[in-house]
Amino acid sequence: MTKKILLIAGDGIGPEVVLQTKKIIDFFSQNSDKKFETENALLGGCAYDQMGTPFPQETLKLARASDAILLGAVGGHKWEALKYEHRPERGLLGIRKELELFANLRPAKVFSALADSSTLKREIVDGLDIMIVRELTGDLYFGQPRGVETLKDGTRRGYNTMVYTSAEVERIAIVAFDLARQRGKKLCSIDKANVIETTEMWREVVSEIGAKNYADVALSHMYVDNASMQLVRNPKQFDVMLTGNMFGDILSDTASMLTGSLGMLPSASLGAKINGVQHALYEPIHGSAPDIAGRDIANPIATILSLAMMFRYSFNYENEANIIEKAIENVLVSGIRTADIAKAGEEKISCSQMGDEILKEIKKIHK
Ligand code: IPM
Ligand code: MG
Repeated sequence: MTKKILLIAGDGIGPEVVLQTKKIIDFFSQNSDKKFETENALLGGCAYDQMGTPFPQETLKLARASDAILLGAVGGHKWEALKYEHRPERGLLGIRKELELFANLRPAKVFSALADSSTLKREIVDGLDIMIVRELTGDLYFGQPRGVETLKDGTRRGYNTMVYTSAEVERIAIVAFDLARQRGKKLCSIDKANVIETTEMWREVVSEIGAKNYADVALSHMYVDNASMQLVRNPKQFDVMLTGNMFGDILSDTASMLTGSLGMLPSASLGAKINGVQHALYEPIHGSAPDIAGRDIANPIATILSLAMMFRYSFNYENEANIIEKAIENVLVSGIRTADIAKAGEEKISCSQMGDEILKEIKKIHK
């Protein structure tokens, strides 16, 4: 059966990294029994420029009709001064919310060939393989009330609401426990239960589920400040980390740097399975990097790894996912580097050359 993939290239380096990934989609479509059909949609700043909104209805319609979505990145300096509802980020947050993509999987895996590219010592990061499970549709990002108001004395008051229901905590905890069960059977849940009641409840709910259904998974809890410190002190102590939306945003950027570059980290954002249909969006965790956009120097690996995640989680194409990941590993082992992962004095290749090298390797493995 042909799978429909919606490509949302977005802003900045988004179109460049998505283009490299599309080459791989096309390769499998033409050379294997896996068939794909792609379509393009606008989101973010480019959508605002062309349609007057960062999240066009047409994009939502196409997203709903697709089997999976591949997104590049949204945002850029150009749109920063716009009103809140017109900013590119509203497009991304809008699609996450509309499709209820509550489960954000952010694996931070260090390719041994890149262990020296990390700002941390090789022995701290070599062999690292952690999975951050970030709740994506609740918390401070969406909580009401929110806003900025002007007080009587002319000063202003800004406010946001950290909010979770126990049902929301439960469904994301189940995703994390299930993943932990398939991996190292260790789950660390991150909160700030010593100060913030919402997260105290979070801790209670996670504990209850663990005690009830996951006796085989070793559950621990950690305050977020400590977790951020432990991630750079001794990241290999973690297997699966479970966090809310806000803490997960921050911790996953930290985790990405352990792997050498923001340009290496893929992600999957999964919805609930309803009547056999599960919406899912795959994207690199890096942003639109406007400073390097249009120069063909970005690293497409995070986006290509996101495609591997799509093959694995949306389509169950484990073999093809493994081929992509193996090809990337081989390319890195052979010393091929984009600028972000090259060390001083090493030759750097372009974004499109990296795409070609990975494709060449895929062809070799896929005979
Ligand atoms: C991410 C990004 C987004 C977020 C931004 C672009 C809205 O930083 O996916 O981590 O904060 O979730
Ligand atoms: Mg982020």
